[in-house]
Amino acid sequence: MGKVLVAYASKHHSTAEIAEAIAAELRIQGLDADCTDVSADTVTGYDAVILGSAVYAGRWLKDAHRFLKHHRDDLVRIPFWIFSSGPVGENVEEDLAENSNWLEPHKVLDLAESIGLRGHTVFAGRMPTDPHGFIEKSMVKRTPEELRDARDWDAIRRWADDVAAALAASSGTTAAPSQH
Ligand SMILES: Cc1cc2nc3c(=O)[nH]c(=O)nc-3n(C[C@H](O)[C@H](O)[C@H](O)COP(=O)(O)O)c2cc1C
Repeated sequence: MGKVLVAYASKHHSTAEIAEAIAAELRIQGLDADCTDVSADTVTGYDAVILGSAVYAGRWLKDAHRFLKHHRDDLVRIPFWIFSSGPVGENVEEDLAENSNWLEPHKVLDLAESIGLRGHTVFAGRMPTDPHGFIEKSMVKRTPEELRDARDWDAIRRWADDVAAALAASSGTTAAPSQH
């Protein structure tokens, strides 16, 4: 299997760190993986793409949505996956459960499905450590300190392992067994 791009849109960097963890795990699985902000705006030279965005007010960040639209003709030809990062706080498990209205980026999913995505997952996120403005500040304040970073690194690595296994299966090679 060739090169994989992990592209992310992140306002307060926690999604960027999830993307970096995915790329690192793909490398452990023997893949050649790059991790870049969506603003790099290219998929040229990649054989598979993972695109991720933080979710704010039920929506993906604009740049991630734009990336999906802009590269749809390339993405239709190669395997691609998407992930969203968001749920934080007391109701993480409920919010991560399917059909939560709070986190489903419907527009993005419809578009990604029309392009032929292989899968979408939602990871728990982290409240901004540097909140801007009243809304962000009050959301951070409302979330108990110990619940502000809900990112589940094992779940993130397991998902990356599944992607690596799917890519290996489609190229006829074997991925390393999951360590998680
Ligand atoms: C103002 C605000 C609105 C948010 N809205 C949502 C939301 O609708 N759904 C969700 O799952 N998470 C929501 N979150 C949580 C963020 O998605 C979470 O903090 C995420 O990890 C931020 O990613 P980033 O650090 O990459 O920007 C919101 C957070 C803030 C501060």
